[in-house]
Amino acid sequence: MNGLDEGNPEGLELLRKSLKKVQIETELHEVEISSGDIADSSNIFVVFGASGDLARKKIYPTLWALFRDNLLPKDTKIFGYARSKFTVEQIREKCAGTVKAKPGEEEALDRFWQSNHYVAGSYDTKRDFEMLAQEMAGMEKGRNNRLFYLALPPSVFKPVTTMIKETCMADKGWTRVIVEKPFGKDSDSSADLSNHLQKLFSEDQLYRIDHYLGKEMVQNLISLRFGNMIFGPTWNRDSIASVIISFKEPFGTQGRGGYFDEFGIIRDVMQNHLLQILCLTAMEKPVTTSPDHIRDEKVKVLKAVQELTMDDVVLGQYQGDPEGEDEDSRLGYLDDKTVPAGSTCPTFAAAVLKIKNERWDGVPFILRCGKALNERKAEVRIQYRDVPGDIFNGQTARNELVIRVQPNESVYAKVMTKTPGMSFTLEETELDLTYKSRYKDARLPEAYERLILDVFVGSQMHFVRSDELAEAWRIFTPLLHKIDNDKPKPIPYKYGSRGPQEADDMAARSGFTYTGRYKWQEPAKL
Ligand code: NDP
Ligand code: BG6
Repeated sequence: MNGLDEGNPEGLELLRKSLKKVQIETELHEVEISSGDIADSSNIFVVFGASGDLARKKIYPTLWALFRDNLLPKDTKIFGYARSKFTVEQIREKCAGTVKAKPGEEEALDRFWQSNHYVAGSYDTKRDFEMLAQEMAGMEKGRNNRLFYLALPPSVFKPVTTMIKETCMADKGWTRVIVEKPFGKDSDSSADLSNHLQKLFSEDQLYRIDHYLGKEMVQNLISLRFGNMIFGPTWNRDSIASVIISFKEPFGTQGRGGYFDEFGIIRDVMQNHLLQILCLTAMEKPVTTSPDHIRDEKVKVLKAVQELTMDDVVLGQYQGDPEGEDEDSRLGYLDDKTVPAGSTCPTFAAAVLKIKNERWDGVPFILRCGKALNERKAEVRIQYRDVPGDIFNGQTARNELVIRVQPNESVYAKVMTKTPGMSFTLEETELDLTYKSRYKDARLPEAYERLILDVFVGSQMHFVRSDELAEAWRIFTPLLHKIDNDKPKPIPYKYGSRGPQEADDMAARSGFTYTGRYKWQEPAKL
């Protein structure tokens, strides 16, 4: 038997374990039905854009990890497709730095590459796609499930999906298409792409990937919020003063400037990754954890978010640090040869979003993201209000609950305690759930691993629905058009800094308080 159940019991057990963490009976049942679908079937995964960067950095390593851990349906065949005339051996060489075997895994790696095939063809020639279809058909028996991954520039999304529909649909099994961002550049272009896709495929065949939805701590937001009594009652405007959702990277665009310049940091990170985190932080409790109930709530909260204007944002662009330790940090965004001279593209943005509903009216949701900053970090920071009726002579600092997505996944709450010992002063400390101490042996799968597995089992919980996408673009489009047309000069900030001071000033004006008094001490080893 092929498939994820009988033929691959270890795989199903691992999958069950990972599902157990967050999903209730109903979804497990759904997944079991779907995994039943892939028993007795031929499963083919096609990577369009197999010669590209995304395929090398993310898709092939993910497929290898799933294969190695026995999580792919048995005998899954992988087809690379791109214009370059490569062989599987050449793709393997290209991926040598990203698809690697640890000692003892060499034989498995050979088997992995043996399950790979490659077809060279153009992205708009029917004959080439027919060739792909023919090659796939030659390897299939029984029900044929086909999964297509578009690791491609958006300029070819349309012809490729049209060709898939015309020539490559599974005739006896399911067809699923994974689309990578960017899903358009604004409301109109996104609607245009959505209309195109909806003419070809049904919503349950489309998987719009936002890889932040595959991250452990992003998925954990639902469990933390709705599985604990201590958070629910304070999760609102009465107790919370502000919410900051941050994404920081300590490197610049480095050779990727050509792509980046067309999009800028708002389209690259804020409109998708950070807004998805906002949805999970701010949405109401879904009726169940079924994918559509969750996505219904995400859409609902997005509908309550006001459109952004220039007054709500601070834009920045990094400059080289002449004293930087390495060459990269001495170069600014405009020194990147792939960036057009004089570009005003923002590499940093902070925006204050307002949610006009009963729970959040008056609470700023501050989204911050930037390249070439002082550290790598993604987190959600919930800052509570001042304690009313102070009896400690102003010694109390605001509580904060921080959900750190990366690196070093953790959840910590900053709380006030009595300084241990004879004194009766207060001090700020933390209740700390750091995953690597609490769950020493847990392997947290990469986001792409979880998401690709989800597509195999047919779970759309962690994928973006078309109405969600339309709402996300509604919020950002007027601002993006203003930036595209007026080209406001971004505030310069130094490579390796925390970004423009103006962003901190805007956060302070909006209701976030920074005291600078909190000092974290790593717990002593017992
Ligand atoms: P901080 O008080 O250092 O920072 C709190 C917030 O204030 C952050 O959003 C920070 O932004 C912002 N901030 C920093 N400097 C300024 C400034 N000058 N003006 C305005 N805002 C500012 O507390 P953290 O919660 O960040 O903790 C400090 C350190 O302790 C971190 O490195 C954290 O990882 C570590 N820690 C680790 C724990 C663990 O491993 N489990 C538990 C608790 C803390 P920005 O993000 O830009 O710095
Ligand atoms: C991508 C952005 O979507 O996410 C990149 O296009 C960014 O600019 C990346 O670097 C960050 O992903 P991660 O998983 O490394 O935080």
